[in-house]
Amino acid sequence: MAEQLGELVRTHTCGALRPDDVGAEVVLLGWVHRVRDLGGVLFVDVRDRAGVTQVVFDKDDETVLAKAKRLRSEFVIGVNGRVRRRSAETVNPKLATGDVEVLVRQLTILNEAKTPPFPVADETPVSEDIRLKYRYLDLRRPRLQNNMILRHRVAMIVRQFFDRHGFLEIETPILGKSTPEGARDYLVPSRVHPGEFYALPQSPQLFKQILMIAGMDRYVQIVKCFRDEDLRADRQPEFTQVDVEVSFAQPETIFGIIEPLMKDVFTAIGTEVPTPFRRMPYGEAMAKYGSDKPDLRPGMEIQDVRELFRESAFGVFKKIVGEGGTVRAFVVENAAGYSRSAVDGIVNQEKAQGRHLLWARRGEDGAITSSFPKAVGEETVRQLLDALGAGNSQLAFVVAGQPDVVSQTLGQLRLAIAKKDGLLDPNRFEFLWVVDFPLLEWDPEDKRYVAMHHPFTSPLDADIGKLGTEPGAARAKAYDLVLNGSEIGGGSIRIHDAAMQSRIFTLLNISEEEARNRFGFFLEALEYGTPPHGGIALGLDRIIAILANEGSIREVIAFPKTAAASDQMTNAPSPVDPKQLKELHLKL
Ligand code: AMO
Repeated sequence: MAEQLGELVRTHTCGALRPDDVGAEVVLLGWVHRVRDLGGVLFVDVRDRAGVTQVVFDKDDETVLAKAKRLRSEFVIGVNGRVRRRSAETVNPKLATGDVEVLVRQLTILNEAKTPPFPVADETPVSEDIRLKYRYLDLRRPRLQNNMILRHRVAMIVRQFFDRHGFLEIETPILGKSTPEGARDYLVPSRVHPGEFYALPQSPQLFKQILMIAGMDRYVQIVKCFRDEDLRADRQPEFTQVDVEVSFAQPETIFGIIEPLMKDVFTAIGTEVPTPFRRMPYGEAMAKYGSDKPDLRPGMEIQDVRELFRESAFGVFKKIVGEGGTVRAFVVENAAGYSRSAVDGIVNQEKAQGRHLLWARRGEDGAITSSFPKAVGEETVRQLLDALGAGNSQLAFVVAGQPDVVSQTLGQLRLAIAKKDGLLDPNRFEFLWVVDFPLLEWDPEDKRYVAMHHPFTSPLDADIGKLGTEPGAARAKAYDLVLNGSEIGGGSIRIHDAAMQSRIFTLLNISEEEARNRFGFFLEALEYGTPPHGGIALGLDRIIAILANEGSIREVIAFPKTAAASDQMTNAPSPVDPKQLKELHLKL
């Protein structure tokens, strides 16, 4: 039976006691972490968020000892007792409180606990389903406790930073109107307006822009966003953004805010982040890394070697180059450990995906081997390796074809090799601004252009002329912040001119009527004195996951959803009462 808390008041957390406290009368409150019963004496580790302290029940007090024998893992207890020094051989250097223990005079069993489905006291691996179902137990373990503490610290650092820099945190509605960020909306039916729906925000995009029109000048919000999209390790249906908007901003204004912010954020793990970050145009990122979010930790840049083959004896490559295709390659810098069969394995794996990969290498002794046809001749292969800067014990992978496909193939292979060879050091942080994204993207299914970022993104001044002639080639004042191959933020300078905004809607094949229906309020607002403005949203979950060296953002969210977007603990989503449906005017 559970006892009452009564007069028990905590004097110390379970992480606080030190040799200086020896002799003090203390009260600890917490969970039974571990019990060791040595017959005449019982040791219990008591745990709270701050740490673990060993308490002792001995036979000098038979009544208390007998009561303590009932204790099991995860019981909630209060102990009153005196701090004493541990004997030299029982000092535990792994524990902050390991020099002392508490000899218990009085034990209060505040609550019992069923045997937990997995041990809380050690980090034995447990299936994620079980961890999510019993999230409250998982959250008691050090891994998630540390992640929650880190998350809190970072949120505090972020708020303090923006406060210091004159930003206002302003809350925007959760029940709103759909804004297009490229994903599906979560809809909320309205009871008082039959047949009408709110949409949960995919982001506060239009509200933050309207706050600039409203003269708020600098806005920030740590805000939940909702997107009904396919989930992955770095995607949740509800996630948190650090959402930022600034009036009279150029891209460099935004970079100049976010870079020192990141410096501050990384102090949470004691890491110094050098600024400014590298900037790389989207086109370069795609060509050199086959990705718009390149991981810069491994070198292995993709290089263009097409000119070597324009007039070569290798007919296949010559033809591809002649028809506007390309030949690209990257070098595995330390390939001594790559046996011939390992290389063949890689080639066959690519072949299974319909991709044709060639290789060339210099052995330890400089001898050249390759999978190029004999007719190509060793001289060409040597020239290729020279052009790539590949020395002894280095190996080059080569692909020819359409530039996008070639770089994508090599980019994926580059990452797979980097991962396998341990080149993705989690303690190295390579930040990168990817800039000058294309404004539009061709959607072959709908046969129309869609906005690459969102429809409120401004074209580059230099490319405005292209909107009429080759809109697909127009670049945008849009940028992503990339860290170690993860997109941790994205933003843009916005269109602040109603005429340009209408023009973009037209390019996107959004009729005037549709634009008025969906964004009429915003188009109207644009006409009442809109300052130039721009901003960014950072993915807070992704940033914390990187700081915590976690592979999935689920590990840094207290109550995440599964890949099937369900909550294992509450069983959401779930059917509702027919009465509720009726009130909402819904029929299934
Ligand atoms: P964007 O769609 O690029 O931009 O989102 C900004 C950042 O949010 C993170 N993110 C996610 N994190 C977890 N789960 C998801 N499902 C998810 N989707 C996005 C990413 C991403 O870089 N309104 C614009 C911002 C702007 O233009 O200012 C926007 O939302 O880290």
